[in-house]
Amino acid sequence: MVAERVRRVEISGIRRMFEAAPPGAINLGLGEPDFNPPAAVIEALCDAVRNGLNHYGPSAGLPALRDKIAERYRDRAPATTRDNVLVTGSGSEGLMAVALTLYDLGDEVLVPNPGFVLYAPHARLAGATPIPYSLTPNRRYLPDLDELERLVTRRTRALVVNSPSNPTGAVFPSKVVDRLCAFADRHQLTIVSDEVYEEIVYDGPATSFWGRSDRVVIVNSFSKTLAMTGWRIGFLVAPRALAPDLNKLHYHILACPSTPVQAAVLAGLSDGGEATRAMVREFKARRGLVTRLLARVPGLEVVRPSGAFYVFPRFSWNRTSQEVAAALLARGVITTPGDAFGSLGASHLRLSFAASRENLRRGLGILREYATELEAESAL
Ligand SMILES: Cc1ncc(COP(=O)(O)O)c(C=O)c1O
Repeated sequence: MVAERVRRVEISGIRRMFEAAPPGAINLGLGEPDFNPPAAVIEALCDAVRNGLNHYGPSAGLPALRDKIAERYRDRAPATTRDNVLVTGSGSEGLMAVALTLYDLGDEVLVPNPGFVLYAPHARLAGATPIPYSLTPNRRYLPDLDELERLVTRRTRALVVNSPSNPTGAVFPSKVVDRLCAFADRHQLTIVSDEVYEEIVYDGPATSFWGRSDRVVIVNSFSKTLAMTGWRIGFLVAPRALAPDLNKLHYHILACPSTPVQAAVLAGLSDGGEATRAMVREFKARRGLVTRLLARVPGLEVVRPSGAFYVFPRFSWNRTSQEVAAALLARGVITTPGDAFGSLGASHLRLSFAASRENLRRGLGILREYATELEAESAL
């Protein structure tokens, strides 16, 4: 009964672990802020619904919101206008619209390994072949340009990049961004840059790909920056020539993004980003806490994350990442096995520090006990 394309993809390993969790488990698994959206944004949503903004809107999004988003991108490319912007029903929907608009049957798409769980399945659903490129701790999870040169073929259509990265927390220095743009330009690849964690950075700003190459599509979202993962709202920024085709595809997926949620987001953007900055200050303190706590866990190699809210330790135990995550789940802590993000995620765990300090202390305490047992076992 089911189409072949559906059999080609699997359920995400993040969801599987989350849905198998016992009630009351400490959640270091899902990547979502443990905050509510700013009070003014919640108010604006209630007002919008009460005031009758309950109907279909333009498929590309409300012009006022597109203008506001374009304004934010003018520091990178001064000619950016609402014609470059498409409001989507989440970063996830944006990624799907991009894949279905750009990739043809038989194309190859360079995707990070480890990388966010949608890139490879979306390429497959579009009939393309995902070609993984490596991100490893010895390169601080930054792409290796020589490897990319070896992987590119005449069929390569796009390069998917994600900085700040889920799951590694790496932020690409601007030199790396420039080199990736030069590489993509040389091979006439479109860069699909997932920048949903753009504002969640701890050691200085992240460099956006927008304005650095003519063939860039930015995928972004309000899920993380306004703590509204359940509201489902995001956006794309794309070259003007491509935007109408993206919009056509997006219309066939969603018709239009939620009207009241757009009105609320517009209100949220008028505080100049203060709500996001306050959240990021707390995440930064938690990053410090997590790094200190993980340093006490035997058998781990940790690259300190510079962005997003994940840490991605590599372990030296004689266990698969599925086994480690399952053992921790049995002890009441949800984590995500590293291989959910690709083969090079093996021997890693992804821990989200978008959880309270108390839960981080308890969860990492349990991890430490477990690690100590494994170390004792291997010493026998
Ligand atoms: C790297 C990355 N891109 C995109 C998304 C999708 O976010 P949303 O669909 O909530 O906008 C996520 C969510 O975890 C993510 O981590």
